[in-house]
Amino acid sequence: MLAIETSCDETAAAVVEGLPERGPGSGSVRVLSSVVASQADLHAQTKGVVPEIAARAHVEVMTQIVEEAINRTGESRQKTVGALDAVAVTTEPGLKPALVIGETAARALCAAWGKPFIPVHHIAGHIAAAWLTTKAIGHRHEGGEFLEQEEIIHQFPIIILVASGGHTQLYRMDENLRLQLLGQTRDDAAGEAFDKIARLLGLPYPGGPALATLAERGDARAVKLPRPMIHSGNDDFSFSGLKTAVLYALRDKGRTENGGQGISHQERANFAASAEEAIVDVLVAKTVRAAAREGAAQVILTGGVAANARLRARLREALGPIPLVVPQPRFCTDNAAMIGAAALLGFRVPQ
Ligand code: KG4
Ligand code: ZN
Repeated sequence: MLAIETSCDETAAAVVEGLPERGPGSGSVRVLSSVVASQADLHAQTKGVVPEIAARAHVEVMTQIVEEAINRTGESRQKTVGALDAVAVTTEPGLKPALVIGETAARALCAAWGKPFIPVHHIAGHIAAAWLTTKAIGHRHEGGEFLEQEEIIHQFPIIILVASGGHTQLYRMDENLRLQLLGQTRDDAAGEAFDKIARLLGLPYPGGPALATLAERGDARAVKLPRPMIHSGNDDFSFSGLKTAVLYALRDKGRTENGGQGISHQERANFAASAEEAIVDVLVAKTVRAAAREGAAQVILTGGVAANARLRARLREALGPIPLVVPQPRFCTDNAAMIGAAALLGFRVPQ
């Protein structure tokens, strides 16, 4: 399967193959190649993604990224293309002008090669990232630093937390691989909260990783922030109030201690750590509660925010004996291998 992803600011292409099940829950998808071109530098100038600019950037690198994915499988180009069963692409949700670039490229390749076209839901892709393995492939070209993603044995029911820049959702998946949406954010996504709070603190785009780095030197108890909906009794989330609370707390500081001229580096780190802790507290509490209630045999954490080390560590600890599966960071943030996996596994997100 050739897969393409252009729903936001990453132009990605990958070639993946389905591996046969060797036992219950062992079905997985092998990554033969995965290429991601980030537009982060481009969007740093505008401190966020402008859809038309993202779309233009996708157009400029699209053919090159697809070529690279095909050329890096370790087989000849001809053999790789000949062996493709279909072309999969993210068709929703995402930035419309960006999505159509990937879809147009995929449809053109399908027409040229006479291969079937498979539309994939982006969130189904984030979930399928936990079915990817790189075992026995060796992407040693990726900066020399290669960590293999082991094949994961899945145990059901699984509780899945998808936390990205656009979504924060809890799902339950049963043995038949059907997904049930348990709850989701009513306003901002967790990644969006990271990004917006990072922007308030004057950090560069993309804010999530920058805020996490700054938080390492901060005191998470320094700034009192709310834990929105932590005791709501359902699986929904809300993060927009947290951003507002940070804004007000920052204003207070600015006025009382620095004459409105901003805050010291240590104080900024304290804000970052406190905000990160508030987001992590809510994500952990609600996931653990859903896992206990549903009798989860496994929990999956995926989406760009799963790259957050604090969230991974806190969730692992809070889950106790329930095993936590987190894809490698490069498969948690947007990539095309996960889209190919969702297509191969037939994952569907309930609408
Ligand atoms: O899944 P993703 O790559 O794209 C979307 O589908 O949205 O997620 C991107 C989000 C951004 O909001 C980014 O700030 C956040 O994931 N993110 C992080 C970290 N790395 C990425 N948030 C917190 N800590 C991180 N280390
Ligand atoms: Zn995503």
